[in-house]
This record gives sequence, C-alpha cells and structure tokens, in this order.
Amino acid sequence: MAETIAVLSQKGGTGKTTAVRTLADVLRRCALRVLAIDLDPQGNLSDYFDVPPDAAPTIGDVLVGAATLAAAVHDDVVPAALPLAEAELQLAGRMGRELTLKRALRDLEGDYDVVFVDCPPALGLLTVNGLVAADHALISSEAQHFALQGVAQVLDLVEVARDIHNEDLSWLGVVLNIADMRTVHSREAYAALRREYGDKVFETTIRASIAYAESAERGVSILDHRPDLGADYLALADELLERLEMAGPRRRLRRLRAA
Ligand SMILES: Nc1ncnc2c1ncn2[C@@H]1O[C@H](COP(=O)(O)OP(=O)(O)OP(=O)(O)O)[C@@H](O)[C@H]1O
Ligand SMILES: [Mg+2]
Repeated sequence: MAETIAVLSQKGGTGKTTAVRTLADVLRRCALRVLAIDLDPQGNLSDYFDVPPDAAPTIGDVLVGAATLAAAVHDDVVPAALPLAEAELQLAGRMGRELTLKRALRDLEGDYDVVFVDCPPALGLLTVNGLVAADHALISSEAQHFALQGVAQVLDLVEVARDIHNEDLSWLGVVLNIADMRTVHSREAYAALRREYGDKVFETTIRASIAYAESAERGVSILDHRPDLGADYLALADELLERLEMAGPRRRLRRLRAA
C-alpha cells in the first residue's frame, strides 16, 4: 500500500511544487517507487518534470471520469493542464465530488510506495480532493510573519477532510520553506511555529536561493544542480521517512547522504 502525501499551503508560492519535485527525486534515489500527481491547473509540477505539454490524458480527464488514473501516468507523473480548472467546476456539481481522486487512486494500488499530490494554492475542491485521497498532509509554510495564520487555516481544512471522508488522515508536519535563517524575520517565523506546533515543525528548513529558479528553468533537480543546497531536501526526506516509519529507505538515504 502506498503512502499518499498531499503537499499544500494556504498561500501561493511557498515552494510546494519544488518540494514535491525534489522529495520525489530523493525518494526515487532511495529505490522507492514514487508517483507525483499534479493537482494544480498551472501545471508547474508537470513542467518541472518536463512532461510534454500535450501529454494526454491528464488529471483533469481523470477527475471528470474521462480516463483512468493509470492511463494518465506519464513517466511516473500525472500531469495537469489548464482544463483542470474547468474540470473542477464540473466536479463541483457532482455527488461524491470530494472523493473522486481517492476513488481514482484505487486503480494504482500496489504500483507505488509513495504518492505525492501537489495541491494548488487555493483551499478549494481540488485541495480537498487531495486531502481526502491522502494518508498524510504535509504543509509548506512561507518564512513570513503570517506563517502561523496560514498553517492554522490549512489545518482547519485538514480537519474538514477528516470529518467528511478520511478520518485516518494524519498531519505529517510543517516545513518552513524558502527561508533565510540569517534574517530575524525567518527566525521569528520558525520560533512562532515551534511555539504553536512543537515537534510537528520539521527541524530542517529549506534555504532560499536563486539556484532553485535556475534549476527549474533547466529542468535539472536541485540535487544535481546544487548538491550543497539539495542537502536541505535530503535532510527533510530523512525526517519525513522517520515520521513515515520507513526504516529501510531511511538507511538507503543515509548511505546517499554519506556518499
Ligand atoms: N528554496 C527556494 N529558494 C528560492 N526560491 C525557491 C525555493 N523553492 C522554490 N523556489 C522558487 O519559488 C517559486 C515558487 O516555487 P513553487 O512553484 O515550488 O511554489 P508553489 O508553492 O508550488 O507555488 P504555487 O502556489 O503557485 O503552486 C518558483 O520560482 C521556485 O523556483
Ligand atoms: Mg505549485
């Protein structure tokens, strides 16, 4: 059975998609079978993974029942494109609209160890579908003054998803992303999250660097483009695997980090 992880945040541009892309890279290097699902009409994750823009079917087709999820897998990525916004509207009028992705995922049972769902920057029906389909929610937080409020809002939605159809949904934690811990600002945001959420806050913070934009542009993982920065994601993946109680992959990751 795969561990399905929805990655989300209340705001846009908190590094969600980069986190999904890079964590998927790390876990694949630990010999895990990882599927990445793009649930954002912007299609950034699909771009980051260099899925051809005309790849079909996409997640939008799956959600309106025009394709199976298996058919929409392209090199272990389920891409999204703009019509997903329309699919969301269509979906809104249907019975069981919050359960659509969860049901579609049954199609792939046993094929993957980990499934990441990259949610859009809106706490709407698509994100609810991601949460209802997931075993775990992983929150990416901006390193800003409003971090606390943002996380609280996401947690409210996690609660809603639990209440409607997914009582087993767990909260994996929150990672402070695109952070510059040399600034008081980022350090205060981290301290505030710690005070409120304790060890739910990952010890690892993801450092801000222009190299991420370059790596996205070139379609090269930050792990290869700038291994010194990629180390943040190796450390985050280690904490993640610990929380998921995946000891074997964690040992492989340790070897990767030592190499
Ligand atoms: N650690 C980082 N340091 C600096 N820039 C980063 C970092 N991680 C991601 N970025 C850049 O920030 C921008 C937003 O990142 P990303 O697309 O991952 O965020 P997102 O939360 O998925 O955005 P959206 O809410 O629009 O889906 C991108 O240009 C990306 O290259
Ligand atoms: Mg994104």
